Amino acid sequence: MKSIQSNIKKAEKHLNNNDCIAVPTETVYGLAGNAYSNVSVKKIFKIKKRPLNNPLIVHYYNLDQLKKDCELNENFLKLYKEFSPGPITYILKLKKNSKISKFVNNKKKTLAVRFPKHYLFRKLLKKLNYPLAAPSANISSRLSSVKASDVKDEFGVRIKFILDGGKSKIGLESTILNLLNKPSVLRYGGLDISKIEKILNKKLLIKTNTKKKISPGLFSLHYSPGVPLRNNVKLPYKDEAFVLIKKRNIHLKNYYYLSRINDLDQAAKNLYSTLRKIKKDGYKKIAVEKIPNIGLGKTINDRLNRASKY
Ligand code: TXA
Ligand code: MG
Repeated sequence: MKSIQSNIKKAEKHLNNNDCIAVPTETVYGLAGNAYSNVSVKKIFKIKKRPLNNPLIVHYYNLDQLKKDCELNENFLKLYKEFSPGPITYILKLKKNSKISKFVNNKKKTLAVRFPKHYLFRKLLKKLNYPLAAPSANISSRLSSVKASDVKDEFGVRIKFILDGGKSKIGLESTILNLLNKPSVLRYGGLDISKIEKILNKKLLIKTNTKKKISPGLFSLHYSPGVPLRNNVKLPYKDEAFVLIKKRNIHLKNYYYLSRINDLDQAAKNLYSTLRKIKKDGYKKIAVEKIPNIGLGKTINDRLNRASKY
């Protein structure tokens, strides 16, 4: 308990100093800085090697905090009530008098906002008088981090503090919804979109592969494990690591399993750490078997398709 408090204090201190730190979320780890500070936000882009035209998600503790920066609409309020805090990001209209640094969203009139669920992150947000801009804690275009050691692998000493909150429960980034006009999905993520459709009582437009550059982070070549990956594979080549959705009675050194039973939530949670492990084990190629395209399977397939463009 004491160490939790002292770690939150340390985190607070770094952030107040305009430094960025790694924070745990239920989806993936974030690289966080004061969203109202140009200095902090510029540091995030630099450490992550992220192009300045790719806007960041801003993380809030509650609605009162958000109201200062964004216009809230009816669909947003419905979804907020049901799913936040949780793995969903909303694109909203930015208020003219908001204090959000112009570097956060490349001077756009919109802002991506999220209410993370991890208890440590929430404890931290509650203490601050500014929201936190936080992209996933990985070098641009690589796999996101799902634990503190991944963050260390990505950034080494360039990151001054990691608030360690254990392994991320969901293991995939948040689902991103554009709520400016007709609700549309910009990124498949940790919240199954059929659940969102149920609450809004309508089908969502799917704009995850749109050529229009609304979300630069959705280009191909994202979520790359750093070695070539093939998906929907029935039989791997000898030199490939083979990733299977569930444990089988095949005991080959190059076989990796995403879940014990055929469980897509567990597979989602283990996806990035398994791909990282395969790379650490020295494989230069990865093959993945077909993953059912339902529930979080849709998000897993989205990431694998992008990773396969490497
Ligand atoms: O689960 C998550 O969402 C994690 C954790 C740390 O919260 N964050 C995350 O952030 O995945 P990032 O920066 O890796 O991905 C954010 C995506 C990018 O593809 C970016 O282009 C898109 O959100 N985005 C940000 N602001 C936007 C905006 N105003 N309009 C459209 N897309 C936006
Ligand atoms: Mg990312």
